[in-house]
Amino acid sequence: MGEKKETNKIYFNSILVQDYDSQYLNQVKELINENFKFPWSSKNINKITPYSYKKVYLLENKVIGFLDSKVILDEAEILMVAVKKQFQGKGIGKFILNEYLKDMKNLRVKYIFLEVAENNIRAINLYRSFGFTEYGIRSKYYKDDKNAILMKKLVT
Ligand SMILES: CC(C)(COP(=O)(O)OP(=O)(O)OC[C@H]1O[C@@H](n2cnc3c(N)ncnc32)[C@H](O)[C@@H]1OP(=O)(O)O)[C@@H](O)C(=O)NCCC(=O)NCCS
Repeated sequence: MGEKKETNKIYFNSILVQDYDSQYLNQVKELINENFKFPWSSKNINKITPYSYKKVYLLENKVIGFLDSKVILDEAEILMVAVKKQFQGKGIGKFILNEYLKDMKNLRVKYIFLEVAENNIRAINLYRSFGFTEYGIRSKYYKDDKNAILMKKLVT
């Protein structure tokens, strides 16, 4: 446990948070492909709108995390969050959400919404630990017929 913390400390000090741009496309694509059965298209990854909050998390110039969200007035939605497989379980997901929540607070966002596959226990646990609560289910929402759990958080 102590060892895990030590490693995490080094990571967090050295993680650089950057706005997404297309120079990161290949690395983000790789990250998404290794994590999802039905990955996003390049077009979707590159898509930036006036409402986009899209970040990459870099360690030694390599993308180890990606978060895509949209922010409209005082509401935000997390569209995707993913950590490179070899770096999962080391607290990076927590780091990403922490940074994201700080930014949402600064942007005066009040509510954050997301949906997550019902069998994605790791992500559900992560969201719960940040105060997200379940408020509904979207039946057979995903391509493999899995239900989506709808979660929300009041930003305080
Ligand atoms: C979900 C994801 C972003 C979490 O990032 P991570 O860096 O692996 O998570 P962390 O190491 O910060 O762990 C955060 C919390 O997740 C949960 N968690 C981590 N590993 C877990 C495991 N093996 N089983 C269950 N819960 C787990 C715990 O609540 C943990 O908090 P704790 O360490 O205090 O118990 C990452 O696993 C991922 O990219 N998964 C694939 C993509 C995905 O499913 N994204 C979410 C849906 S869009």
